Amino acid sequence: MTSDLRDKIIMVTGAGRGIGRATAERLAAEGAVVGIAELDPETAASTVDAIRRAGGIAHALVGDVGDRETFLALAGRLSEAAGRIDGVVNAAMWIKYDPIAAVGVDAVERMIAVGLKAPVWGTQAVLRHMDPARGGSVVNFSSPAADQGYPNTAIYAAVKGAIIALTRSLAVELGPQKVRVNAITPGAIPTPGARAVVDDAGYELRRNKTPLRRLGTPEEIAGIIAFLFSPAADFIHGEVLHVDGGVSVSAG
Ligand SMILES: NC(=O)c1ccc[n+]([C@@H]2O[C@H](COP(=O)([O-])OP(=O)(O)OC[C@H]3O[C@@H](n4cnc5c(N)ncnc54)[C@H](O)[C@@H]3O)[C@@H](O)[C@H]2O)c1
Repeated sequence: MTSDLRDKIIMVTGAGRGIGRATAERLAAEGAVVGIAELDPETAASTVDAIRRAGGIAHALVGDVGDRETFLALAGRLSEAAGRIDGVVNAAMWIKYDPIAAVGVDAVERMIAVGLKAPVWGTQAVLRHMDPARGGSVVNFSSPAADQGYPNTAIYAAVKGAIIALTRSLAVELGPQKVRVNAITPGAIPTPGARAVVDDAGYELRRNKTPLRRLGTPEEIAGIIAFLFSPAADFIHGEVLHVDGGVSVSAG
């Protein structure tokens, strides 16, 4: 383990599966009290059960984090149960890939709501429920799609590009209030959500384009997020951290 998070209270969105779940489990294993913010009640309950069985503390927070009122109500429940909120991991996302001519209103609105609005509400939740003397921490998720074009992914890419701008801008705005804001850009991680939009051939391509010649795991991303909440990362701020096997620096 890289850190000791025993005094941290952290809300993780999209924590029912994939990277969000691995992150919630890792933070709880290091002693954090974790809020499992998730749309799907079954997967939320499953993450909470796994954490409790392992001896950790988790609270199920079921709802749509793209909706401001809902997000802030869920955060209010966590704060009431645990005393405050020290940080939010904005991992939730909903993805639909389509040729641009076929992109519909609902898909655009949902990707923007979950991918971009929710991290804004998450930041507001930290500001509302943190202890100003301790400060807070926000971790957002960008994507390689923000840096390089892939066909049929324009709306997802636009949302993930916006996350970089949001992260940098909020870092400058909120640094004086002791709120650190960073983003992670994971490489190819075959989670349930990613598997729904990338087939085996797509993963073969991604593996070959990755200098380390392998895919990543949700646990590898979770470890970096645990590090970002640890004292060792106290001076990391406004950073977009690539955890991608080198794909972002490869010309090939
Ligand atoms: N997996 C990858 O390869 C990869 C690569 C780059 C970036 N990312 C980013 O990492 C993050 C996690 O990705 P993942 O692959 O684990 O995703 P995933 O689809 O496997 O999990 C996302 C979770 O978010 C939940 N969710 C969706 N809409 C919600 C809402 N409105 N309210 C609450 N919860 C909601 C889903 O139910 C699901 O449990 C995402 O932001 C994704 O864009 C992933």
